[in-house]
Amino acid sequence: MQKWIMSGVLTIAVVMAIVLMFTLPGKEQVAEEEKPTMPEVTMDAAAAEAVVKDQGCISCHGDQLQGAVGPNLQKIGSQLSAEEIYTIITKGKGGMPSFKDKLKAEEIANVAQWLAEKK
Ligand code: HEC
Repeated sequence: MQKWIMSGVLTIAVVMAIVLMFTLPGKEQVAEEEKPTMPEVTMDAAAAEAVVKDQGCISCHGDQLQGAVGPNLQKIGSQLSAEEIYTIITKGKGGMPSFKDKLKAEEIANVAQWLAEKK
């Protein structure tokens, strides 16, 4: 009888452990939070240029995006994908400030796509 209870408890514990393994956020989900997903937008070059001017991107990256405090972005599309650029603008990186609170996700996505086409 005692043995039967013990194996019952053990079985429940194993089942709980398996359920937890699947319900707790895995590594993949955590990585996704670190890498925000870019919303899909239709690229609008004029709007992107306006954001880049108004948000002071050009004060660090140069009025022709030729680089200043920040790196040259004239051929950034050959190095980074739109998603990667989206992540950098959203979260910031090193001396690059985060624009998460200043711009809408769609605006960042538009600028990211515009920059990604610069090759
Ligand atoms: C305060 C100065 C500053 C402002 C404002 C700024 N950046 Fe940056 N940016 C930087 C710096 C510095 C880096 C380099 C970060 C690093 O790699 O450590 C950078 C990196 C980047 C990169 C990645 C370049 C690469 O070669 O890896 C992109 C893309 C970028 N900025 C776009 C933008 C856009 C778009 C804006 C406006 C919404 C903006 N930046 C505003 C300073 C700035």
